[in-house]
Amino acid sequence: MTAAHNTEARAIEVINRCEKLAHFSQDSGSTRRTFLSPPMRDCHREITCWLEAAGAEVYIDAAGNLRAFYPGSQPAAPRLILGSHLDTVPNAGAYDGVLGVALAVALLENLNGRKLPIALEIIGFSEEEGVRFGTPFIGSRALAGTLHDELLEVRDREGVSLGQAIRNFGLDPAQIPGAALNNDTVGYLEFHIEQGPVLENLKCPLGAVETISGQSRLEFKFMGRAGHAGTTPMQLRCDPLAGAAEWITTVEKVAKIRYGLVATVGNVAVVPGATNVIAGEVSVSLDVRHCSDDIRIRAVEELSWLAEEIVQRRGLSLIRTVLLSQKAVFLNPFLVDEVEKAMRKAGCVPQRMVSGAGHDAMIVAEKVPAAMIFLRTPGGISHQPEETVHVHDVAKAIDCGIHLLDQLADSTPVRERRQIGG
Ligand code: HGY
Ligand code: MN
Ligand code: MN
Repeated sequence: MTAAHNTEARAIEVINRCEKLAHFSQDSGSTRRTFLSPPMRDCHREITCWLEAAGAEVYIDAAGNLRAFYPGSQPAAPRLILGSHLDTVPNAGAYDGVLGVALAVALLENLNGRKLPIALEIIGFSEEEGVRFGTPFIGSRALAGTLHDELLEVRDREGVSLGQAIRNFGLDPAQIPGAALNNDTVGYLEFHIEQGPVLENLKCPLGAVETISGQSRLEFKFMGRAGHAGTTPMQLRCDPLAGAAEWITTVEKVAKIRYGLVATVGNVAVVPGATNVIAGEVSVSLDVRHCSDDIRIRAVEELSWLAEEIVQRRGLSLIRTVLLSQKAVFLNPFLVDEVEKAMRKAGCVPQRMVSGAGHDAMIVAEKVPAAMIFLRTPGGISHQPEETVHVHDVAKAIDCGIHLLDQLADSTPVRERRQIGG
């Protein structure tokens, strides 16, 4: 079999594996796999089989990350991490996150037991989306040492705390410090679908990510006076749902007048939520992103001021909770150059780009040099079942990854680290 056929076969295997993992879900008929939910255990078991067959040692760390270590050719070989996340949004596609882990496994299998001058660690992060606890990047923050204790008290919709969810999975939150990055780590690479239309419009299979946009996630709770929908005259109402609706239209207006800013209200929770009852309180989510932190923060301030103005005028009250304020991240220039070189060797015209989506790479980048390789997303469709990839693009990603590993294994930073490592 020629190398091209071999890569194509591996690409088909990667896609089949992603489709199989998509069936490990909390919901029948669609994919939803949140932090340390029962289907995550099935996911771990399946991926562990692949990794152990390829010669890696696998364990689950105290933050629920799947961690697989494949030694280098020397005992003190520096370590390169390849990873992405295993959790999903509700009604998800089969590739967001999981594809990065399946591609990392394919690159390991492609070594066929060969050892590189670098060790490899493959990581399947436990929570990147932030669906269960409202706060994202739990797995990668444990690696970066920024999963602070107060987060263990955050509760999900059932009232289960993050710490208890970890214990329920059979893990010990007290061991989270042990999940931190090993200090022999020289870099982090993440393959991920673009989740947008840019590469498809440019007819490029792969993209080299230079910047990951910063993101703010908040909850605005509008509070008023619940009442009978039939007996309460309009002028005597304090209706938080009407106030929230007025504010939600301003979110769209503010975003449309700032180039490159995106602002989204993705969730509105109404209490009590009955047709014939005026709402008592309404919780509204807000997601704001931009590659300039200054523009993003100023947009959040303006939207907060507008919410205050509306509640004052309508006799409502407001609780604003900041769930996340994640700075934009510039990925490592050396690694981005290496990614670009590897893309050319794989026969791709390298396309540098910004990521509007957040990724674990932005957390890990706080500690070690990080880079991301995007794969074209047909139709730009993501976070829904129609999300897909082209076999050809997955084959190109494998090809690019093979070149990248060889380049990095023989790169100056790795050689220097090997000398330090002895
Ligand atoms: O929402 C995001 O940016 C990503 O899909 N976690
Ligand atoms: Mn996602
Ligand atoms: Mn993702």
